[in-house]
Amino acid sequence: MAAAATPLVGVDRLTRRFGARRGIEDVSFEIAAGEVFGFLGPNGAGKSTTIRLLLGLYRPTSGEMRVFGMDPLREGTRIRARVGYLPGELALYPRLTGAQYLDRFARMRGLTDRSYADRLVSRFRAELDRPVRTLSKGNRQKLGLVLAFMHRPELLILDEPTGGLDPLLQDEFARLIRETVEDGRTVLLSSHELDEVQRLVDRLAIIKEGRIVVTDTVESLRRSAPRTVEFRFDGPVEPARFAGLDGVRVRECIDGQVRLSVTGAVAPLLAVAADLGAVDVTARRADLDELFLSYYRDVPTAEVSDVD
Ligand SMILES: Nc1ncnc2c1ncn2[C@@H]1O[C@H](COP(=O)(O)OP(=O)(O)OP(=O)(O)O)[C@@H](O)[C@H]1O
Ligand SMILES: [Mg+2]
Repeated sequence: MAAAATPLVGVDRLTRRFGARRGIEDVSFEIAAGEVFGFLGPNGAGKSTTIRLLLGLYRPTSGEMRVFGMDPLREGTRIRARVGYLPGELALYPRLTGAQYLDRFARMRGLTDRSYADRLVSRFRAELDRPVRTLSKGNRQKLGLVLAFMHRPELLILDEPTGGLDPLLQDEFARLIRETVEDGRTVLLSSHELDEVQRLVDRLAIIKEGRIVVTDTVESLRRSAPRTVEFRFDGPVEPARFAGLDGVRVRECIDGQVRLSVTGAVAPLLAVAADLGAVDVTARRADLDELFLSYYRDVPTAEVSDVD
């Protein structure tokens, strides 16, 4: 989606340390109104810390942040009133039932028309009659989603929303996200799995060890992702012929069979293969997973390629 002039969420060099421990370091990104923004990173990367800062639940060590143009530290209450928040670790009073939770949240938010909330309950088949302590992880998550979406907030902040949802409900969740942005609302969601979010989000940031390593659209990340290309030759070939090419990495070279990872233009590679008399070629679509894993591993971001 096109970036609006004033971002709905703006984070600039945000840092939070916990004593000597790293939380997040120099995190910057913006989210435009109407966008679905994915925040990806491995366990302990700093996703939840960033989210809590945005909600005014943590105080930053340094840096700037704005949500709806407001400072979460000074106007956290006003911000939270306009946000639907699904925490990463949903802490619910064990003895309350889902129905009691819905009542409380509706009252707290001054929600009189409950028809949308009721629709969400049936779409997600949320169980309302039992105390939440007796609910399975997935069923608690479903309740958490209903609580986050029920008042149609302008901004949804969802910390690992799809954890524990079965495939059918993941599809339902994907539909709900699409409806939400069609409605002109905005979504920030975190995950540690690319698969879960790549079809949901417009743009994503990858955070690793407290720092953002890349922010881009899914489209353009996919364009820059490595492709796998395999050539077959009549006899053994020298891998060095390929290894010297820009953006080419030799992953396997056994007899006449060569498997390569390729980023960027293929023409120089095809020229070498033709010169060597290739008899067959197969190429696989750009693989976002490979790119993503390369960010997760200890590979410098400029040198995206397969790691053996
Ligand atoms: N309240 C806290 N006190 C001390 N350290 C904290 C606190 N909250 C977060 N941290 C530290 O900050 C870092 C980032 O944690 P955070 O919970 O933000 O990661 P995450 O990306 O949400 O991970 P996960 O995928 O496991 O939820 C970790 O090293 C964590 O130990
Ligand atoms: Mg977390």
